Amino acid sequence: MYQPIHLSDHIYYVGVNDRRTQLFENLWPLPLGIAYNSYLINDHKVALIDTVEIGQVEKFLQKIKAVVGDRPLDYLVINHMEPDHAGSLRIIRQMYPKVQIVGNKKTLPMIEGFFGISDNLMEIKEGDMLDLGRHKLRFYMAPMVHWPETMMTYEEQEKVLFSADAFGSFGALDGAVFDDEMDFHGLRDEMRRYYSNIVGKYGSPVQKAMQKLKDVEIKMIAATHGPVIRGHIPEVMELYRHWSTFQGEKGVVIAYASMYGHTGEMAETVARSLAEQGIKQIKMYDVSRTHASFIISDIFKYKGLVLASPTYNNGLHPNMEALVSILQGIGIKNRELGILGSFTWAGAAVKRLNEFAEVLKLNVIAQPVEEKHALKKQQYEACRALGVEMAERLKETEKD
Ligand code: FEO
Repeated sequence: MYQPIHLSDHIYYVGVNDRRTQLFENLWPLPLGIAYNSYLINDHKVALIDTVEIGQVEKFLQKIKAVVGDRPLDYLVINHMEPDHAGSLRIIRQMYPKVQIVGNKKTLPMIEGFFGISDNLMEIKEGDMLDLGRHKLRFYMAPMVHWPETMMTYEEQEKVLFSADAFGSFGALDGAVFDDEMDFHGLRDEMRRYYSNIVGKYGSPVQKAMQKLKDVEIKMIAATHGPVIRGHIPEVMELYRHWSTFQGEKGVVIAYASMYGHTGEMAETVARSLAEQGIKQIKMYDVSRTHASFIISDIFKYKGLVLASPTYNNGLHPNMEALVSILQGIGIKNRELGILGSFTWAGAAVKRLNEFAEVLKLNVIAQPVEEKHALKKQQYEACRALGVEMAERLKETEKD
């Protein structure tokens, strides 16, 4: 039933699309679905690289059969244990009882912990090679990209890097499996949303992994999500270098919470001031309308950030609290931050946003603007001044 999809003569794509799951990790919206990628190398020995989320196992097994027929699998390489990739491990072992499961010293206890499997496991170390015949697999540890056991597997003959979560993307594969079969520019937003929300905290481990691979010739990047990259490898590497160092482009994200519109008016005032100063990339989000993952993705993109919230229960509006709490968890760095707040009888929002800035050592620009009741002339002018100063900071940033 399945026409095998070749990465090369003997390397196949056997991943699956999921357009039913609404929330990845039961947290992140999937408006375009998601792909769980797995790869099969059909050599003298047969190796499967990662599995798929358990809900898709039936389709997955059919795809494997379409490539190998009745041949058994010799190896199952587990690059990453998160259940969106290792979820079908137990079924694979049941279908192929002699398959050796390959992982590193951190993987193997997780296999026992999640699946109760402790036999026929093969422990490999950094730089070890697994010989399949014509194809040889070399292993590179990539801890915390995105779990501690994560590793990458490099196939030396075809120069394919099986990179686990790194270089992956949200979005199911709509027919196109390779980046050069689709609109790459359309892909970048979901790639950044995936990176920023899932891997974004681990910028330093990402840089270490990229440093380790800097002299490795890579013709294809076969991640566990998103398309196989073969047409835009330098661009994708550059995007990862940019994001992992928390660099921002010239532009501002304004994220605001507003119950009755007063705080929203402050945010609009800053936005207009920024536009008058020539800032062309201004992204405004009402945090009660847009899921935080989309806002965070743009916060990773742009250097400027303005957060605005009314005081609510002596703190932030809960949706703004959720956003700053995720940003704090990720550890967003290196942003110019403007702070706006409003209150009716006792102000607490600006205080909380200042604490957030302090924890993350963000550069707070101008004086935070705090208004009581509706926006009036003095604070209106302060909002405009904040926009001017933000624009100035971004000009300075551009020169750096
Ligand atoms: Fe796609 Fe960390 O799992």
